[in-house]
Amino acid sequence: MQKILPNTNPTELNAWESLKKHFQNTKQTTLKEYFENEPNRLDYSILKWRDFYVDFSKNRLDKKGFDLLLQLAEESGLKKAIDAQFSGSKINVTEDRAVLHTALRSITKDPVLFEGENVLPSLANTQKKMYAFCDKVISGAWKGYTGKEITHIVNIGIGGSDLGPAMVVEALEYYKNQLDVRFVSNVEGDHHQEIIKDLNPETTLFVIVSKTFTTQETLSNANSIRTWFLNQAPKDAIAKHFVAVSTNTEKTAAFGISSENTFPMSDWVGGRFSLWSTVGLSICLAVGPKNFTKLLEGAGQMDYHFQNTPFDKNIPVVLALISIWYNNFWTAESEAIIPYTQYLRNLPAYLQQGIMESNGKSVGRDGKKVNYQTGTLIWGASGTNAQHAFFQLIHQGTKLIPADFIGFKKALHGNKDHQEKLLANFIAQTEALMNGKTLDQVKIELSASGLSTEEQNKIAPFKVFEGNKPTNTLLIDSLTPASLGSLIALYEHKIYVQGILWNIYSYDQWGVELGKQLANVVLEDIKDNAQHPHDESTKALLKHIAN
Ligand code: F6P
Repeated sequence: MQKILPNTNPTELNAWESLKKHFQNTKQTTLKEYFENEPNRLDYSILKWRDFYVDFSKNRLDKKGFDLLLQLAEESGLKKAIDAQFSGSKINVTEDRAVLHTALRSITKDPVLFEGENVLPSLANTQKKMYAFCDKVISGAWKGYTGKEITHIVNIGIGGSDLGPAMVVEALEYYKNQLDVRFVSNVEGDHHQEIIKDLNPETTLFVIVSKTFTTQETLSNANSIRTWFLNQAPKDAIAKHFVAVSTNTEKTAAFGISSENTFPMSDWVGGRFSLWSTVGLSICLAVGPKNFTKLLEGAGQMDYHFQNTPFDKNIPVVLALISIWYNNFWTAESEAIIPYTQYLRNLPAYLQQGIMESNGKSVGRDGKKVNYQTGTLIWGASGTNAQHAFFQLIHQGTKLIPADFIGFKKALHGNKDHQEKLLANFIAQTEALMNGKTLDQVKIELSASGLSTEEQNKIAPFKVFEGNKPTNTLLIDSLTPASLGSLIALYEHKIYVQGILWNIYSYDQWGVELGKQLANVVLEDIKDNAQHPHDESTKALLKHIAN
């Protein structure tokens, strides 16, 4: 295999050893003490960039620890690895692919070379075709087979061909036009039935999104929906109602979609990083080309920041290093992501694919099993809903759960009273998680409660909050297509930094491929009673299904 990326076991680096010692020396220090010990703590732990205000001061980390993490990044060869990604080198070594989703949103317009050729002109052509198509559909110039305007869009895809577009369409609801945009992903027949049951084929456009055009779920849904459509419409109506996004133009043609109605994508755009490409067609239909361009620009700005900012002020790098600090030294198992807006309620689910499919690896770039922890578990939900669901465990449970709090200074609809309450919760939670509530504080509170001293002493321990729970605060001016683009790109780059430091390949996903093969074998057992060899438990399950 080529050695494009550094190949270093992080645990053998000097900085790792120093971090281990530093962890032992500081693990008893509380967050409150860090603030007392470091009068200038905020000078290095607040990062201001464009409309982003990132405060990482509420972490169990002092300046020395932060500097050691920065040293770890240097020793890992991170700078070279970042340059290798943007240069179009085939850093996805196990799939022999470059990783160039950043080319789709380049703001510098400097040539981006892939195998010696600048990819930007052909990307611009494809984007022109996509924008022209979206303009036609949105304006009503594109007519269905009976001459009516399109009113509904159904995106058929799964994984990266669904999660990104679905999350962004939901996030940009405020910027949406009149089109009703829906998503079908699961192979479960009930899912597509529920989505299409009230649709009129005369006014619906189906967008089949599959990089490979071989994915079982997507093709099953596309075939069933085509059958449903053709039960009501003539065959030549397909051209007005089905379009495809794929790298596999042979298969899209075989499905019956003309090249005019096929929007190509490049092999060097990974599924979970593809919403910036033609995979974002449903986004572009929902919010229009102007807003889609702003989304790309916001991401491009973050790319520029990531590529050109020293590590100590580099938001994706800093957040990645903090995550490594908790994952590998504090042995924290998971991270929560809490966006304080309902628009981003599916950001955690979207990031689960991005983060866990990318860094859920246990073989290092040297081909050997790693002897340290890699990928973090990601979970979360929107605040304040999450406060009434799982915050109990973060506040008073036994597990250490570092959390990213993402909030917006301004509300889109401007309801001042609600926005003030939302922001009050957003800030109060991180403060409470840090400071907790001591037994003495609880007793003072209880002394005014009218309870007897005995009753007060009994209840007091249950009301204590240890505090010391780490959080990052990401406060953004407002939720716009551009700030959303920057936010998503931030997390994309965080993934790569962690993958580099953990010495794994972040851009392949062999673990998911196995599931695809296995399902085909079992399908033969279910459909044709093929009786492939299985373990006893599996055999019993198959028997139970057959009965
Ligand atoms: O889930 C695995 C995966 O390969 C993802 O990376 C990808 O986004 C998804 O399947 C869908 O693949 P395709 O776009 O080829 O249908």
